[in-house]
Amino acid sequence: AVTRPEPSKLMGFKAVPASTADTFVVPEGYVAKPLISWGDPILKGAPAFDASGTQNAAAQAGQFGDNTDGMSFFPLDEDRALLAVNNEYINPEYLFAHQGKQDLTADEVKKSQAAHGVSIFEIRRNAKGEWQVNRDSDHNRRITAYTPMELTGPAAGHALMKTAADPSGRKPLGTFNNCANGETPWGTYLTCEENFHKYFASAQDDVALPARDTRYGLKAGNRDYQWYRHDERFDLAKHPNEPHRFGWVVEIDPMDPTATPKKRTALGRFKHENAALTIDPSGHVVVYLGDDERGEHLYKFVSKAKYNPNNQQANRDLLEEGTLYVARFSANDGEIKGQGEWIELTHGKNGLTAENGFADQAEVLIFAREAATQVGATTMDRPEWVAVHPDNKAVFCTLTNNKNRGKEGQPVGGPNPRAKNNYGQIVRWWPHQGNHVDSRFDWDLFAMAGNPTVAEGLYAGSDNITADNMFNSPDGLGFDAAGRLWIQTDGKYSNEGEFAGMGNNQMLCADPQTGEIRRFATGPIACEITGLAFSPDQRTVFIGVQHPGEELAPSHFPGGGNSKPRSTIMVVQREDGGVIGA
Ligand code: FEO
Ligand code: CA
Ligand code: CA
Repeated sequence: AVTRPEPSKLMGFKAVPASTADTFVVPEGYVAKPLISWGDPILKGAPAFDASGTQNAAAQAGQFGDNTDGMSFFPLDEDRALLAVNNEYINPEYLFAHQGKQDLTADEVKKSQAAHGVSIFEIRRNAKGEWQVNRDSDHNRRITAYTPMELTGPAAGHALMKTAADPSGRKPLGTFNNCANGETPWGTYLTCEENFHKYFASAQDDVALPARDTRYGLKAGNRDYQWYRHDERFDLAKHPNEPHRFGWVVEIDPMDPTATPKKRTALGRFKHENAALTIDPSGHVVVYLGDDERGEHLYKFVSKAKYNPNNQQANRDLLEEGTLYVARFSANDGEIKGQGEWIELTHGKNGLTAENGFADQAEVLIFAREAATQVGATTMDRPEWVAVHPDNKAVFCTLTNNKNRGKEGQPVGGPNPRAKNNYGQIVRWWPHQGNHVDSRFDWDLFAMAGNPTVAEGLYAGSDNITADNMFNSPDGLGFDAAGRLWIQTDGKYSNEGEFAGMGNNQMLCADPQTGEIRRFATGPIACEITGLAFSPDQRTVFIGVQHPGEELAPSHFPGGGNSKPRSTIMVVQREDGGVIGA
């Protein structure tokens, strides 16, 4: 018999059904409105959006970037705030006046680069309580794939970071494929570089690269973006060290539009999803980090110095120095739960030595994936977002899916219990005695997504998955102040076969105590739902609708009619002004 969870006292809204409609649906008593869409101007003098795709790079550089993703809310005062938002990638089929398959011009490459990165803009709440973008704010800023940045930490200035254009190895240009995010208690924004390999290519058919580079997917034939055609640093044959300058967590001061973003190499280089930061009871800053690729790993950073709650200025460089760890899970006999340990990735320890190919700590960090393999880390089903419960005792991570589970090198077991895992799961762990700096933890699975209407056993999902709340590929994840867990999906939206009845991508809410999961919102056609930020009063939530109508799927969101679909941030509130989710 299936034991259903107790009804939640945390969640007070009525679930919405699965949807295949081209709309954004929220529960009864809630209202959702677009805040900003790709191409809307945010800098003074930037032109309005033009659907023709003929606007140039300079126009895009003053407008909201494409593919809205992770975002954070930074209050300025009661009714004003800054939103810092990642613009992960582009949809060439909509960005240009053509579908992006022909040879791009220099301005088109620059436009593509300008549509990536981060957008920071002020929002204001009017007398009716509605949040709107203030396009004239001096705070507004675009950070793109060519904004000057600084590398900090143990890998900065290393020989592997030096290029012809930057012999210091400390001054990279830009950030791109900024997936999810984090924020610090000292008021900075963390943006995480994910699939950076896609932007490097070469006119040359094969460029011999060491295995430690190909491990990240780098190869000459990745030509979809075409940046190498007009920006030579993206040509692997000419500048093989350039990709070492990407794949980092970048710290940005959103309050100072002139501040140089800092790439924090102490947090390791991989395909970063988000950065979930917490303060350990000891005072050390702990950041949990997923590496989103099949069979890659889950990491933890612990700062060397301690957080000073009385002097935020003193905390500004806490992420510059510390220790990186990677997770190894073990399971109890016959159970999908068990223990785990964090293994230190420090040069000279755990086999991370010159004999094994790691000359120094910079190499351990630049090639963190190889280091993780060297120490025997657990291969995971694509670690996406991590979220720390507000009680600071439990941590959750989405493992989105992994069709390769069960193949060589990726054995079934532990928190990855299903071969050919097309549904994904959410792993949860409790640091030993509540100490995030401890090397030990206990874990279980909070949810295994599945389809109880078409599958049996483990593929039907865990007990808290029903015909009414099913979904696949959990990805975005976050807690609100009351401890409701919010889950966003980036899954298959065919609504057929093993995905029948799941509809479009969606956002769900879960009660971590009872395990109940309830669908809160559904997105338009061919979108992903990703990125969430709550106002401090918890009465507004900002939700990202990414790439509606991707690959020319028939979406016209949010404009309707015959309009071009555009990535859009939705503002969601209750008609009665109450707390979201309650
Ligand atoms: Fe950008 Fe792993 O999602
Ligand atoms: Ca994601
Ligand atoms: Ca994903």
